[in-house]
Amino acid sequence: MRAEATTAAPADTGADTIAIGLFEDEKIAHDLDGGLLQALVDSGEAKPGLRKLAVTHADGKRYVLAGLGKRDGFDPERARVAAAAVVGRARELGARFLCWELPHHVGDAEAGGFVEGTLLAAYRFRAYKSKPDEDGGLEQLAVSAHHDVSEAVHRAAVAATAANAARDLQNAPANAMTPTRLAERAHALAAEVGGLTVETMGRAEIEAAGMGAFAGVARGSDEEPQLITLRYAPEDAKGPVLGLVGKAVTFDSGGISLKPGMKMSEMKFDMSGGAAVLEATGAIARLGLPLRLITVIGATENLPSGHALKPGDIVTAKTGTTIEIINTDAEGRLVLADCLAHAVDLGAERLVDFATLTGAIVVTFGDTHAGLIGTDDAWCAAVSEAGARAGELVWRLPLHPDYAKAIEGRYADIVNAVETRKAGSIVAGEFLKRFTGDVPWAHVDIAGTASDAGRPYAPKGGNGFGVRMIVELAHALAHGE
Ligand code: BES
Ligand code: MN
Ligand code: ZN
Repeated sequence: MRAEATTAAPADTGADTIAIGLFEDEKIAHDLDGGLLQALVDSGEAKPGLRKLAVTHADGKRYVLAGLGKRDGFDPERARVAAAAVVGRARELGARFLCWELPHHVGDAEAGGFVEGTLLAAYRFRAYKSKPDEDGGLEQLAVSAHHDVSEAVHRAAVAATAANAARDLQNAPANAMTPTRLAERAHALAAEVGGLTVETMGRAEIEAAGMGAFAGVARGSDEEPQLITLRYAPEDAKGPVLGLVGKAVTFDSGGISLKPGMKMSEMKFDMSGGAAVLEATGAIARLGLPLRLITVIGATENLPSGHALKPGDIVTAKTGTTIEIINTDAEGRLVLADCLAHAVDLGAERLVDFATLTGAIVVTFGDTHAGLIGTDDAWCAAVSEAGARAGELVWRLPLHPDYAKAIEGRYADIVNAVETRKAGSIVAGEFLKRFTGDVPWAHVDIAGTASDAGRPYAPKGGNGFGVRMIVELAHALAHGE
């Protein structure tokens, strides 16, 4: 969807539908002839409560009055939610071109929130439907304001479009979204976006690089695994080199430690971390943010076969650390171990990884918060603040030597899982920590938030969680915030 800012009045933008926000105890700022909109408010038909909607027509256009709640405490998240409500109604009414009239005295972040909420809520995944959608959906968005909000609108539109692209990767079935297809997407992004370069390594190169943990997981599958590395280093780059790492297990059956069948189809979403860091990388380069970026994505299937890893097997990671496989379903940390070490070797000075890593994080936080684990308080705070701005919430869990002790090995240096499953998410974090060197690192466990999260602007299925948080984080890092 096209999205642009304008200083033209909403009625002069060519939009067929105009959305106007309504704060509690406030009058309509720009009414139509005869005070039509204020009359709707006064009669009680248009209500200021968040997500409340009223529709009227005038001068051949549709007007949607959208409740925003109290002005006090209005924030980007409420803008997203109100915008999503408008999209739902606009869709029913067959709207094609929507103009949001930006309320007076709201900031750039809230302006961005209206854009994100609109683009994210308008998303549909129909690639595998044989019949076209009955209601065609929105094609264009304008944000009308007295002052120039084009920068905020542009940034939000690029980030939300990238989140929608990540959703496409997530929602595609695993028989299509193979590691090779993900690598093709990375190549396509690099061809399309200036300053972005990509390098991919297949099975033989991954093995030759000594990445025995990653290669071990990939061994069970006939699909070629891919280690995808993207780089972005603009001339005006400032601040530390950001290393983004993503788990992209395109299907996680559990391997020889096979998962139960119930909901196993959802394990196509086990590449959500990789999808998020990939599309966020594209967005950062599109926006031309002045920072250096190294993105490493480990893509493979996790399947049982005659070649697959078995419980009791021992593999050697790129760092030389030996790992006894206790459970082949704890594959994400094996993939990430080599990807994190690779990002460190390539010069990352701050690390953040995104991974659908543990079922335990779903038990802990449901789909509200992603789990955050890390070694560096300032870096964890930066990640957490970026998430809050994006409406992608994270909550930190501790590390502790007691948890580290749990992964000490009997036959090898460490084990990949603990039979008791106590503190599952933290133990996984202790495992990853072993591969991050001295680099400030934060791990974001998105197993609960990456799909089917109950947000008005995030439909069922993959939701691109992490993309907008990463763009926020990169922006803050580049601008020294
Ligand atoms: N991909 C799963 C984690 C997951 C679970 C994601 C539910 C989304 C929803 C991961 O590879 C996994 O299987 N983890 C195991 C680890 C255990 C064997 C130590 C888990 O959490 O059960
Ligand atoms: Mn698994
Ligand atoms: Zn997994």
